[in-house]
Amino acid sequence: MFKHAVAVAVTLLSVASSVKAHGYVQEVTLGSAKYTGYLPYQDPYYNPVPQRIIRKIPGNGPVEDLSLMDVQCNGWSAGGSSYDSAPAPIYGTVAAGSQVKLNWTTWPDSHKGPMITYMARAPSDITKWNPGKSAVWFKVHESGKNSAGKWAATDLLYASNHIYTFTIPPKLKAGQYIIRHEIIALHSAYSYPGAQVYPSCIQVQVTGSGTALPTSFVSFPGAYTGSTPGITYDVYTNTGTYPIPGPAVWTGGN
Ligand SMILES: *[C@@H]1O[C@H](CO)[C@@H](O)[C@H](O)[C@H]1NC(C)=O
Repeated sequence: MFKHAVAVAVTLLSVASSVKAHGYVQEVTLGSAKYTGYLPYQDPYYNPVPQRIIRKIPGNGPVEDLSLMDVQCNGWSAGGSSYDSAPAPIYGTVAAGSQVKLNWTTWPDSHKGPMITYMARAPSDITKWNPGKSAVWFKVHESGKNSAGKWAATDLLYASNHIYTFTIPPKLKAGQYIIRHEIIALHSAYSYPGAQVYPSCIQVQVTGSGTALPTSFVSFPGAYTGSTPGITYDVYTNTGTYPIPGPAVWTGGN
């Protein structure tokens, strides 16, 4: 039984990597604690299924229809709605002001684009909370194309060993949050639909004595449409500044 499960996983893995070599977050470091990500080609085949702090994803592929719930935490509408932001059974712990490191799997160099991170404060137990279409998300970090023309999701990611780093806002009020992190790949974004969103939702308990909370929020789906600057964008001909989609980064009462 176990052998069979592993064989299926290995087969799926090789099919997936030959057809669609995209990616996902495979490891999360909160301060100094390391957590394995949700591994879509392995975890479902184990009994019991390993408990992760990342909400489950169907695979390494993107979301292109930005009106779907899938764009929140990476879902799979074609396979039903069971993946759509289904809570994970556990969460990690991280102090406000500390660094979060997200380790991405192999990422194709054609898939240039920004890396963006949002958070949402859970009103109750995060292992049961599904934000739906409510406006609860605020942006905490973004990285697009720098002045040297280097892209976050390819150049900078490769230069840092596939590790993306951001800091939990130092004065953020303690509590449970979903960290929604994404790469938006722009290789087909010259028309809509075309931009490919690769979201991940990580459940954390933020600790600390801060009292700051943002006052404006966006929803997913909702924050991005075909007419959002940076969603429809010709990455091959635009040599200027790249407008990173979504609201301004919340400076966290700093
Ligand atoms: C990223 O995660 C993979 C899989 O766990 C691991 O092999 C690799 O060493 C990690 N990369 C870094 C830079 O820690």
